[in-house]
This record gives sequence, C-alpha cells and structure tokens, in this order.
Amino acid sequence: MCGIIGYTGNGNAVPKMTEGLSVLEYRGYDSVGIAAQTDGGISVVKCKGRIQTLKEKEELAALSSTCAIGHTRWATHGGPSDINAHPHRAGSVVLVHNGIIENYKELKEQMQQKGVYFLSETDTEVAAAVLNDCYLESGDPVAAIRKAMLQLKGSYAFGVLFDDHKGEIYAVRQGSPLILAKGQDGSYLASDITALLPFTREYYPLEEGEIAHLTKSFAKLCSVGGEEITPAWTTTSMSPEAAQKGGYPHFMLKEIHEQSEAIVKSVSSRINAEGLPDFSADGIDADFWKQVKNIQIVACGSAMHAGIVGSRFLEEYAKIPTNVYIASEYRYHPPLAVDGTLVIIISQSGETADSLAALRYAKSAGLPTLGIVNAVETTIAREADRRIYTYAGPEIAVATTKGYCTQVSVLYMLSVAIAYATGRMDAVTAKEIAHSIKEDAPRAVAHMLETYKDTFVRIAKKLAPKEDMFYIGRGTAYALSLEAALKIKEISYIHTEAYAAGELKHGTISLVEEGTPVIAISTEAELYDKTESNVREVASRGADVTLICRDDTGEKEFSANEVILLPTNSEAATVFAALVTIQILAYETARIKGCDIDRPRNLAKSVTVE
Ligand code: AGP
Repeated sequence: MCGIIGYTGNGNAVPKMTEGLSVLEYRGYDSVGIAAQTDGGISVVKCKGRIQTLKEKEELAALSSTCAIGHTRWATHGGPSDINAHPHRAGSVVLVHNGIIENYKELKEQMQQKGVYFLSETDTEVAAAVLNDCYLESGDPVAAIRKAMLQLKGSYAFGVLFDDHKGEIYAVRQGSPLILAKGQDGSYLASDITALLPFTREYYPLEEGEIAHLTKSFAKLCSVGGEEITPAWTTTSMSPEAAQKGGYPHFMLKEIHEQSEAIVKSVSSRINAEGLPDFSADGIDADFWKQVKNIQIVACGSAMHAGIVGSRFLEEYAKIPTNVYIASEYRYHPPLAVDGTLVIIISQSGETADSLAALRYAKSAGLPTLGIVNAVETTIAREADRRIYTYAGPEIAVATTKGYCTQVSVLYMLSVAIAYATGRMDAVTAKEIAHSIKEDAPRAVAHMLETYKDTFVRIAKKLAPKEDMFYIGRGTAYALSLEAALKIKEISYIHTEAYAAGELKHGTISLVEEGTPVIAISTEAELYDKTESNVREVASRGADVTLICRDDTGEKEFSANEVILLPTNSEAATVFAALVTIQILAYETARIKGCDIDRPRNLAKSVTVE
C-alpha cells in the first residue's frame, strides 16, 4: 500500500506535498518522491528512506511550483531504492502509483520491443511506459488513460503529470483508493483524506474506473467509457489524528477491515490467466516443487501459527509431510532433514532475529530455503533462496492481523499450486479452490464483521472482566485456536490457553469452573460432533461457552451460551470467517478493557533480538 498526493493551484505545491506525505507515511515509508512542474519542465526529486530524508535534499529546497504530485512507497515490485522510488517518468508522462500491475511482465516486454529502456524494477515504471505509449498515439491525456486502462490488469490509483499540460493533474482509480478535494487555493488529490486535512475538508472519493482532470479552478470527471460525471462533494468531520487511521479508532481495527483487500492482493498475482494457482511470477517454476519431499516451516508467534494452519493445507492437498518449528528452538535441536527437505521461513517483518537465525542455520546446513514475508527486501526476504511476498501492505498495529491472514492465504494458495504442479490435484479442483481463496475468503471476512457486530461486543463484555479463559478446537480449528489465544493475551492481557478440544479432558479440565470462558471453534464438518461433546463436557462443569461453528451442523439445540455461525460455501469461506472472528473478539475485549490496542505493553512490532 502506498500514499499518493497531488496539488494544483495558486499556492506553493512543494510544502503541501511534504506535509501531506508525512501524514501518509502510515501507508508505507520505504521510499518517497515528488514531481513538480517548473518553468524548466517537470522536476523529480526522490529517494530511498522517509520523507525527512527527502526534505533534507538541496534539490527539493530549491524547488518551487504550483503543480506537483508526491508518493510515499510500500515496496512490492523492486526493493526500496532511489531508482525504484516514485514518481516514475516515461517519455512525457510522470506518474505515481498505488497498487499492483499484475501483468507488468508481459507489458514490460511489449514496451521493450518498442524500444523502451527501463531504469527500475517496478511495475509502476511499466505503467508509465504504457500510458506514454497511449499518449503518443492519442495526444490527449484522458484518451491515453482510457486506452491504457484496457491494457493494465491489477489494482492502481495513478496521479499523472504530462510535460505539455502545465498546471494540470490527471488521476484514475481502479482497485486502489483515491480522492479529489477542492480547497480555497486549488485542487487536490490523495490516497485518502487524511493527507489533505490541513488544506481542505471537502472531498470526493473516486469510484472504480473514474478518471479525473484537475486544474487550479476545476475538477472534471469521466468514466472509462468517456461519460462525464459530476462529483458529489462531501465534507469530512475527521480529526487529523483519527484520519491517519482512516476514521477507525485503532490501526488494528483498520487492518482487520483491510483484510478482504489484503487477501485479494496476496493471491491475485498467483492465479494465472487460466484461473490456476501459479507462483511462477515469484520466480518459482512448477518443476521446483517436484523435488520437494518434506517441508519444515520455521517461524515465531503468529507467523508460526499461520504456519500450522498452512501445514494442514500442505499435507492435505500437496501431500508433502510438513512440520512446524518454533524458530528459537529450531537450530538448537534441528530436525533430521531427509532428502528433498525445503525450509520455509514465515515472517511479516522479515527482520525477526529468531527466524533469521533459523534461516541462516538452514542455509548453513545446505537446505533450500523459501521466505514468506510481507516487508519487501528485508533481511529474511533477501537472504532466503526464494521468497513469496504476502502484499498485506504496512501493518502499523503491533499485534498482527492482516499479516497473519495473508500468510494463511498465501500458504493455502501455495498448497493448491504445489498439488496441481505435481499432478496430485486436477485442474478443475485447483481452479475451484484458487477461486474460493480469492473470492469467498474476502467476502466471508466482510460478512462476519458486518453480521456479528453486536454479538462480538456482547461476548467481549463477558470476557473483559475475566483473568483466565480457553480456546479449544480440533484439526484446523485447533491451529486457529493457537492464534486466537495469542491475540487475546497480547492485547487484552487475559491469560488464555489454546487446547486441542479432545485433550482438555486429560487433566487441564480441572481448571474449568463456574463462569470460566471457553470458546470452541469448529470448522470441519467431520469434527463437529466430537467438538460438540467437548463443549458439553466443559459446559457441564460451569464453563461459559461460545461456539464458533459451521452454519450447516443442523444442530437445533446448542450447549453453548453464544453461537457464531460460519459460512460453508467453501472451506476458504469457513476458515477465513473463523480467522477474522477470533481477531475481532480479541479487539473488542481489549477495547472494552481500555487497553492500548495498537501498542500493547511489553511488545514490539518486530523482535530483532534473540
Ligand atoms: C504479533 O501480533 C505477533 N503475535 C508476533 O508473535 C509475531 O508474529 C512474531 O513476533 C513474528 O513476527 P514476524 O512475523 O515479523 O517474524
């Protein structure tokens, strides 16, 4: 996720850019840049690093302009560097981009055949080249944008300057948010209203496919078909502080709600034109998987929990024996590695010391390594032999939600890709599951957040005063319970144990007494009856039970006091509905307790010490 800003008017655009980009840094901050129209043409000043680094550059201080665009980057294609920073120029086009151009490789080849030479590794520079190519043909910025949109696949929000259109900014929204705003001194553009609060509160969020033409006195809109659109201007009541969180009270809640979009971003470029799961865009061809006979997943905390969920998919679909190891234990008691062992390191930050140490141990042992990482070009991503990015975008809350969620979605898609590549799954099934991950999972997340709002708060009110509680589950639900327990502990400070539902009766059930909260999760139909009997065991000893189960159990009379039903239109829908439920229950409990949700005590976003 990146931040875009633009301004054209009577004022000095450059300080507006730097001020707005400072607010947008929550959207990504590994590199930054500004393009400004001057008497001598469009000047671009950009660099790796944060906005402060840019502000210290002499060439920026010397820049004065009334029309500029700016960008703060969360790297996806091509690591953080001066060259990869936005804006990017191609011919007479200079643009900034938020999103992912899924077909950038084939477009890059087409442009290269036309003689275009690329400087960066980014998909954005390719988009600029395509737009310039269309502009050369049409001679009109809006016509060029409309033509380019027919070629670009993926998600994008662009802010664009053209050499020969002084004082004008063009913009388009397709899959990534973008707003227009009008101030006393000109017209504005931004990824979200947060960046513009110091200048104006009157804005219009572009709809999908809408193209904008901004000058200092007006904003013209049209659809991709060319029909003129009148913007329905609205006024925000948001405070600058709240604005950084997009109107949410906490980054964590914002990131929970971003998960539907994050799942799509994490898997879109891993489904090919035939609808089959395909990781070749990550530089991993199908043949690689044929030599993998055993998988060791190594990670910490939530990443390790995602690995446990993923291991079930890898064994069930890819038929590859998979074990999950705590990174801080791995190198002190390394498992025996059989021929064909692949070590997968999962890490949102890509900098966790325990996981990095495990990676280095695996490499020293001569084992092939794969990193599943969110933050691009981080140490684990760089040092692993291969890497798959989760594209969740920057995660600001210390307690991970979309980071964990996209680790699960990538592992799920990877399991199906391996199964198909090795002939262990037919194409029809592979397409079905791939489609369910990209379509059903995001919808299920949104469905649960909308449908059970009041239920979540009601249950959280019962949990908040407690000091101890349990999560129980069987199979995949047990794996989800591990993350459920950690979420509750790390943000609401309630001691929570995750237990295999069938194991609780072998001793620990002695801790269950009147009013002990027990949340049971059941996602697999064949395990429901056994889980229900475990629910009855604890309920008969006074537990206050919440049951999170499938909506097709046919049950008439539940033993639980609260029941949350999961959609069952696909396995992906059920799993991701349960996944978001455990997150939002932890969030609401911590909120009711008044805990510091985004910055819980004792924690750090990336644990870079062993
Ligand atoms: C934060 O919510 C997690 N609970 C924390 O355990 C994290 O998953 C762990 O520290 C690993 O971090 P990483 O994914 O950045 O490697």
